Amino acid sequence: MTEHHELIHQAERFVQQELSGEASGHDWWHIERVRNNALVIAAKEHADVVVCELAALLHDIADEKLNKSKEAGLDKVRGWLRDHTDDQELTGRVMEIISTMSYNGGNNPPMTTLEGQVVQDADRLDALGAIGIARTFAYSGAKGRIIHDPGLSDEAQAQEDYRSNHKTAIYHFYEKLLKLKDLMNTPYARELAEQRHAFMEQYLEQFYSEWTVRENPRS
Ligand code: ADP
Ligand code: NI
Repeated sequence: MTEHHELIHQAERFVQQELSGEASGHDWWHIERVRNNALVIAAKEHADVVVCELAALLHDIADEKLNKSKEAGLDKVRGWLRDHTDDQELTGRVMEIISTMSYNGGNNPPMTTLEGQVVQDADRLDALGAIGIARTFAYSGAKGRIIHDPGLSDEAQAQEDYRSNHKTAIYHFYEKLLKLKDLMNTPYARELAEQRHAFMEQYLEQFYSEWTVRENPRS
């Protein structure tokens, strides 16, 4: 146990170093929130806390957006684990989670282990609610994209050529965020996701009502 305590502490420092200054939604505080979510959900679901905490801490080190390729990212995590622990079982379980948990348009197969389900839920929760909204606009801004374009239909934005440059922040709600609550694995995380989902719907309603102010004060 103490050995794992030290390992977690080392992972924390490694991730802090690697992600410092990352402004596109993957900063250290995202990791810290995902780890805390994971610890709370793991306790409720009686999952292995060390596996969940370590996978939560390391999950974005392998992110494709921050590495040359997915494989290169996974190698980085694998290399770090090899240098810091002899516990092969723990390493295997953490690698299995990190290599399978990404969203991928909702097309990846469901997580097979309880710990994988917990960490995936913990990460997804951070894409929802007030924080999820903030991260979406931060990500979109970092990509140089606009907030919203009422002239673009969802269909147009779903087209291949709109995907890279013209996708708006608001479109991301429909493409991903509003779908997440139905993809939650564990009952407790689903409950939290439903609250955050309701808040996002309320947010969008307010957003559109402000966008189209019908009353002209000068008329
Ligand atoms: P995660 O750390 O949850 O795996 P991602 O790497 O998919 O997240 O994205 C980081 C953050 O940026 C998330 O909050 C996500 O919802 C948001 N995001 C991802 N893609 C887009 C996009 N095309 N437009 C706006 N926000 C995005
Ligand atoms: Ni993440």
